[in-house]
Amino acid sequence: MKTIRKGRWTLAPLGLAAALLAPAASAAPPMLAATPPMGWNSWNHFADKIDDATVRAQADAMAANGMRDAGYRYINIDDTWEGQRDASGVIHPNAKFPDMKALADYVHSKGLKLGIYSSPGPKTCAGYEGSGGHEVQDAQTYAAWGIDYLKYDLCSLAQPMIAAGNLEKAQAIEVAAYEKMRDALRATGRPIVYSLCQYGFYQPWRWGGSVGGNLWRTTGDINDTFARMVQIGLGQAGLSKYAKPGNWNDPDMLEVGNGGMKAAEYRTHMSLWAILAAPLLAGNDLTKMTPETLSILANKEVVAIDQDPAGRQGDRVRAEGGLEVWAKPLSGGGKAVGLFNLSDQRANLDIDFAALGFKGPVNVRDVWAGKDLGRMKAYHAAAVIEHGVVLLRVTP
Ligand code: GAL
Repeated sequence: MKTIRKGRWTLAPLGLAAALLAPAASAAPPMLAATPPMGWNSWNHFADKIDDATVRAQADAMAANGMRDAGYRYINIDDTWEGQRDASGVIHPNAKFPDMKALADYVHSKGLKLGIYSSPGPKTCAGYEGSGGHEVQDAQTYAAWGIDYLKYDLCSLAQPMIAAGNLEKAQAIEVAAYEKMRDALRATGRPIVYSLCQYGFYQPWRWGGSVGGNLWRTTGDINDTFARMVQIGLGQAGLSKYAKPGNWNDPDMLEVGNGGMKAAEYRTHMSLWAILAAPLLAGNDLTKMTPETLSILANKEVVAIDQDPAGRQGDRVRAEGGLEVWAKPLSGGGKAVGLFNLSDQRANLDIDFAALGFKGPVNVRDVWAGKDLGRMKAYHAAAVIEHGVVLLRVTP
């Protein structure tokens, strides 16, 4: 795997002349997605029922309800915004989005950023116009509109090779297509977060960063069921070493608040995604949330675990019949620890902090309860409810 380390400067071996030239280093653009991107995406709740007014309403809600202050930034339009290309090949939005530049200006006026969606193939997954063969033109158009984030979804590209089992050929086609759009985005000079979506085929965690991806989907689509959410979340075991500032594993968007799970299950979803340093893209209708949904999405301590500046993804520590312990290293030597009861009945969960590498007692905080529990060497969580979690922040 090719890894690109950005922003690393050492003056020591370069001497005085280099030191005098050093200000040039500060001209390097700030790293995109230094922490996992946070925001909202239209697909999980609205699918094709998305339009300009709905997007504006989501931006209004995010700016007013505390989510923006909690760190949410991107308002991402998913599939079905695309219209036709004109005679010179320039893409136009369809009637649902009369003026994309005006929409971007509006979203920016709320202190937020606007994201868009396309495919490297001829058609998107919903059958709309893709970017294949128009990469440079589309990147220029997005930049002119003021777009800040692109989700680039494989869809129709390389499907015949995949169907025929010729995966090597399919991967080569994909990589070339992702690189093409990476170069086109970079050439615009506008910082645009680049989100790869190809459902985890051929281990994108090994190559997603080298084709320019700031994040790459590691799985097929999530849905609003506990079983699918857990299947995807636990499927991330072993991937922690591939995530770092600027390059994230993406286990798909959040379903919190969409109604298919109980509040306790959504807390499990949010806790697991935070431990995974996953992108936090809310997928519900932000204008119609219950206070409980908002308290899950905008819990600052949970968000802080996800967004920890060390940029380390967590991983599985232990699993026994639906009872799982996961931990994420935090800056300053602490850890976030999730005690997950994924079984169908109440259960006790224990963690001995020595097993997480701590020597002696640690300070323990119950994050969802917002309570300091004091100093301890081990923690016993009695009767964690079915499908529930106890999320701890542990500090030496
Ligand atoms: C899927 C993708 C979803 C959504 C949808 C739109 O391939 O995984 O997240 O973007 O396409 O058609």
